Amino acid sequence: QVAANRTPTPVNVSVMHLRADSATVSWEVPEGDIVIGFSISQQRQDGHMQRFIREVNTTSHSCVLWDLEEDTDYIIQVQFIGLYGESQASQKVHFRTLKKTDRFSSNSSNQDDPTMQGLDKSRHLQTGEMIIIVVVLVMWAAVIALFCRQYDIIKDNDSSNNKEKVKQLSERSTPEHHSGGLLRSKVSLNEKCSRNLLPGRISF
Ligand SMILES: *[C@@H]1O[C@H](CO)[C@@H](O)[C@H](O)[C@H]1NC(C)=O
Ligand SMILES: *[C@@H]1O[C@H](CO)[C@@H](O)[C@H](O)[C@H]1NC(C)=O
Repeated sequence: QVAANRTPTPVNVSVMHLRADSATVSWEVPEGDIVIGFSISQQRQDGHMQRFIREVNTTSHSCVLWDLEEDTDYIIQVQFIGLYGESQASQKVHFRTLKKTDRFSSNSSNQDDPTMQGLDKSRHLQTGEMIIIVVVLVMWAAVIALFCRQYDIIKDNDSSNNKEKVKQLSERSTPEHHSGGLLRSKVSLNEKCSRNLLPGRISF
């Protein structure tokens, strides 16, 4: 008789409609059992901020958790309230709220497994971060390449000025060869530097 009076434990507890500040907990009642209410304990995984939600005289199989913090891990447990008291707590269910900046709102969350959805979100974020990193590296490479070019132009101007002066001073070409050789080696060095920089960093 005691066993017959026992309130059933909630089954198939899951989290749907995952957002930055809310989520929906749902569960099922084993067939043939009478349940008149439920209570949910909600706790942040870091141990702070415990909350209890309790509703009686309801046949609802779900409950919205509101005022959640974004990008935070939570653990929930559901208990049934029956005619003879409370049931044992369900299995712990873990979920993580989304980031506010995430625009991929959960339209398809009804069918999807919430855990898989969480993974998808973080994959989206990782791709975004990678794109930012690549863009920054490309900009860096561009700045360096630009600097190399500017440096060459300055060098060029300097050496052509020198050439003019040298030509004016004498017809002899020994210093001319010298500065020309220097310039050529500078150019090839800089070209190597920018060629190595660009594709090398992008492929990362
Ligand atoms: C819980 O989920 C399983 C698998 O989806 C299903 O077979 C079972 O009927 C569900 N339990 C209840 C009480 O609905
Ligand atoms: C429970 O709900 C029924 C109707 O759904 C209502 O008549 C009754 O007064 C409610 N009982 C309590 C304790 O709220």
